[in-house]
Amino acid sequence: MNAGIIGIGRYLPEKIVTNADLEKIMDTSDEWIQTRTGIKERRIAPDNIDSSDMAYFAAEKALKDAGITAEDIELILVATVTPDYPFPSVACMVQEKLGAINAAAMDISAACAGFMYAMVTAQQFIKTGAYKNVLVIGVEKLSKIIDWNDRNTAVLFGDGAAAAVMAPVSEGRGILAFELGADGSGGKHLYQDEYIIMNGREVFKFAVRQMGESAINVIEKAGLTKEDVDFLVPHQANIRIMEAARQRLELPEEKMSKTVAKYGNTSSSSIPIALVEELENGKIKDDDIIVMVGFGGGLTWGAIALKWGK
Ligand code: UT7
Repeated sequence: MNAGIIGIGRYLPEKIVTNADLEKIMDTSDEWIQTRTGIKERRIAPDNIDSSDMAYFAAEKALKDAGITAEDIELILVATVTPDYPFPSVACMVQEKLGAINAAAMDISAACAGFMYAMVTAQQFIKTGAYKNVLVIGVEKLSKIIDWNDRNTAVLFGDGAAAAVMAPVSEGRGILAFELGADGSGGKHLYQDEYIIMNGREVFKFAVRQMGESAINVIEKAGLTKEDVDFLVPHQANIRIMEAARQRLELPEEKMSKTVAKYGNTSSSSIPIALVEELENGKIKDDDIIVMVGFGGGLTWGAIALKWGK
């Protein structure tokens, strides 16, 4: 039984914070941010909207898109490093908001690779026949753990959420191959104390190497070649890191999602937010081979090759 995505939706806060806005509150420049990261603006959620709210808004859209009700959901997995509380989990809060009374619920903490980890976890329950409909959500309210006095990190991140309903899909479609990995020895390069603390150069080096490698690995595991790939959806952290992955796959520019300019790095929600964008743009169509790849704090990484469609 192949597991795929049968419905998807996202929520982005309305408030846009541009690089020019940041120039007013810290020693930075639009020019520096754009050339080093590709980011032009990001969304920031208001005080009264936390991760569980954003997750719920995105989930409602995904359920509608999938044509199922909340009661059809058997498991909710939320990838996040910015939960409302240490517990209850965001997944339990979403379960209540949706009225998904038949669903088990838990959060998954794998930072920016979180959505890959959550999708692969969902796939295992679906493949074994244990569950049919699994709601997988990536959500982050990173603005609450950003040190607005630290220009090294404050310019990079944004808030947002996206949700996917995963379920059995027709023969040949859905997840074709995956790779998940971790290297705890690199945890010191990117972590949260009170705020996000990051050694940008170390994370950059790791990301450039890992994104390309994992993408190639899932293509090979799926029995495909680079030429078979229709679209690359990398974690939207930094355009230079994404470009390195694209070049490793020898893909033309128009075959990679680039939402980082508009939304910044939204950690675990960046890949599904980009997926929704590209579906809306008509860049992803049924039977396209999609490669998704992420990396993040932990250090963690994850990649999935998927044939789009129900
Ligand atoms: O989801 C995973 C999250 N993390 C990442 O993806 C981060 C990966 N790393 C990166 O994206 C890059 O390393 C950064 C964008 C964070 C930094 O780019 P870089 O080319 O590696 O710059 P750098 O760290 O070598 O810093 C160059 C200079 C430094 O000044 P000095 O020491 O050379 O005088 C920084 O102080 O740029 C300075 N700088 C800034 N200047 C203006 C750092 N942040 C800023 C800023 N505005 N916001």
